[in-house]
Amino acid sequence: MPTSASPLSTYPPLNVRVHTPRLSLLGATDELLEGLVPIVREGVVTQPPWPFDDPMSLYEDSPEREWRWLRAVWRGRGAVGASRWRLYFVVVVDGEPVGMQDLIATDFATLGTVTTFSWLSPAVRGGGLGKEMRQAVLHLAFDGFGAREAGSDAFFDNHASNGVSQALGYQPNGVTWDTRRGEPAEISRWRLTREQWAERRRDDIDLVAVRDCLPVLGIDPPPAG
Ligand SMILES: CC(C)(COP(=O)(O)OP(=O)(O)OC[C@H]1O[C@@H](n2cnc3c(N)ncnc32)[C@H](O)[C@@H]1OP(=O)(O)O)[C@@H](O)C(=O)NCCC(=O)NCCS
Repeated sequence: MPTSASPLSTYPPLNVRVHTPRLSLLGATDELLEGLVPIVREGVVTQPPWPFDDPMSLYEDSPEREWRWLRAVWRGRGAVGASRWRLYFVVVVDGEPVGMQDLIATDFATLGTVTTFSWLSPAVRGGGLGKEMRQAVLHLAFDGFGAREAGSDAFFDNHASNGVSQALGYQPNGVTWDTRRGEPAEISRWRLTREQWAERRRDDIDLVAVRDCLPVLGIDPPPAG
């Protein structure tokens, strides 16, 4: 797996990396995505309560599931601009890809807000990796990109996702509704301000190749030095 010595890409978002003591978030190259295919094929979500309404069509039968998932990532990667971007990261633990952590923004240069989306291999859930990868991507958003606020939404019965938000100091931000697989269900909304993040800021998370990525996202780089 190309976790450390891959050649740099011409496209800066693919070079961004976030390292914590437990895991790395690596810009999702096709090679890294290929490493996740066995998990996607096996099934990221196999039973209710359905945790999201099919943003990547992970509910399809294989091989359509893998194809749709790849197409969704490729579409998102190809639609990056100042008005809207989504960065896809593969979560790597001990050299093995185990999930994805995305960072999403609309009009970031003006609003400074981000949201996140993630999934982990069922085999490694419940051991704190969900919190660790959210902390990693929050470090990128707040420290690397200068975000003002991070949001997270999850269906009310997605206890793991809501648990991550709660454990990391997000505050409840109301409810909304969405459909999942055609049925309406309540969404719990969470928000974490920059000040709230700073209270729990970690000093053991490293960011790599962030500065080169800023122009791609329409963010003015801070003065050098
Ligand atoms: C959401 C997800 C990434 C979280 O990762 P994880 O490794 O399972 O979560 P963690 O082990 O870091 O646990 C985070 C918190 O939630 C709690 N939690 C985890 N799973 C839980 C469950 N099934 N029921 C209740 N609480 C749970 C943990 O106790 C922890 O809280 P604590 O620190 O207060 O003890 C993972 O569960 C997943 O991939 N789920 C399927 C996809 C998904 O739902 N994605 C989110 C879409 S919005």
